[in-house]
Amino acid sequence: MDIGIDAIGLFTPHWYVDLVDLAHARGDEPAKYTIGIGQDQMTVTPATQDVVTLAANAANQLPADSLDERLGMVIVGSESGVDESKAAAISVVKLLHLNPWVRAFDIKEACYGGTAGLLAARDFVAAHPDKTALVIASDIARYGLASGGEVTQGAGAVALVVSAQPKLLVLHDDALAYTEDIPDFFRPTGMTVPVVDGHYSTSAYLDFVGKVFARHQSQHHDQYGDYAALLFHLPFTKMGKKALAALAPAMNDADHQRLTERLAAASQLSRRIGNIYTGSLYLSLVSLICEDKTIRSGDRIGLFSYGSGAVGEFFSGTLQPDFANRIDQAGIQQMLSARVRLNVLEYEQVFTAQLPLGDADATVPVEESTARFSVGGRANHARWYRDQQ
Ligand code: CAA
Repeated sequence: MDIGIDAIGLFTPHWYVDLVDLAHARGDEPAKYTIGIGQDQMTVTPATQDVVTLAANAANQLPADSLDERLGMVIVGSESGVDESKAAAISVVKLLHLNPWVRAFDIKEACYGGTAGLLAARDFVAAHPDKTALVIASDIARYGLASGGEVTQGAGAVALVVSAQPKLLVLHDDALAYTEDIPDFFRPTGMTVPVVDGHYSTSAYLDFVGKVFARHQSQHHDQYGDYAALLFHLPFTKMGKKALAALAPAMNDADHQRLTERLAAASQLSRRIGNIYTGSLYLSLVSLICEDKTIRSGDRIGLFSYGSGAVGEFFSGTLQPDFANRIDQAGIQQMLSARVRLNVLEYEQVFTAQLPLGDADATVPVEESTARFSVGGRANHARWYRDQQ
């Protein structure tokens, strides 16, 4: 039985900073950001968005026929949640008025949480082929003003519907994971920004790429020629280039050229939205589908997921005949072109004006935006949300 991704929804907030502006403000060469790191713009998260609203807004972009009474499981993968106990997935069920006869829970393992959710959903559907699952990777990547990671911030969510006979991507039973305890990036309870050793995290990521690809190839006898595209977790788009370069010595020229071109297409949305942690691998799948008009139904796509701490996993899937219609491509272009550019001062003010952690009652002012769901505030310790429909 074929199981995989039936449809994808994407959401990102409506503000961004141009990274040339940020480079000037930080006294860096713009080319360091746009070429050296490979990012052009960075999403700025308004106080009206958190991982719950990002997740609900992403699921709201799914094709109307993709969520029905077959839904049996709702998973949110996130590393920037707003509650130490209650799952964001429960709030998503409420906001979207989903069928309540579901399992709803969150998964945390840095940027790998979305992939853990997707593969758990695949196993769930294999055991219950009449059911579907909704998996949402939702995050706000926040490193701090003028920090080393600042230029790699971003925010957004990707919603994936997993079903039997999927219309977008059949997932093969070839997932291979590697886990090793390393201190490259982590966020102790109570901290609002991570502890990160950026250069160490980059080399750890590449070490995992090498290990996982070598073992996958020895176990599954796959070759680079089998893949129309290789997609990578993109904390910043240069990371994908580094990963492909690490694998390139074993590729022939034709494979290298094809995979390089497709990676460039798969990086376009990340260049504009930034790192969305758990969702960024799936953002690159959306980007490939929106930006590359040469991929075809039947093409095999390889996906490498990395979550600091760390877990790396590689798996693959095959595009299905209706894949291009299972993402609202026009809606994504509209959402991006409606974004408003902030100057660096405005970005810094927004950055420090998030609903603070803690439990004091607060109201977040209503804001004009493209988002259906937004944070209203906090009352009796609990966040409450607005639905603008
Ligand atoms: N023109 C062109 N290129 C330039 C340049 C210029 N004027 N100036 C510098 N560069 C290049 C450098 O040569 C370098 O390229 P290489 O990496 O290919 O050598 C690149 O720009 C970056 O320069 P630096 O290494 O000096 O930059 P930095 O010290 O400011 O750190 C960073 C960059 C490590 C990515 C930092 O932004 C960071 O810590 N980011 C957050 C951590 C992260 O994303 N880690 C990724 C792996 S972990 C993961 O994947 C999980 C996750 O999502 C966090």
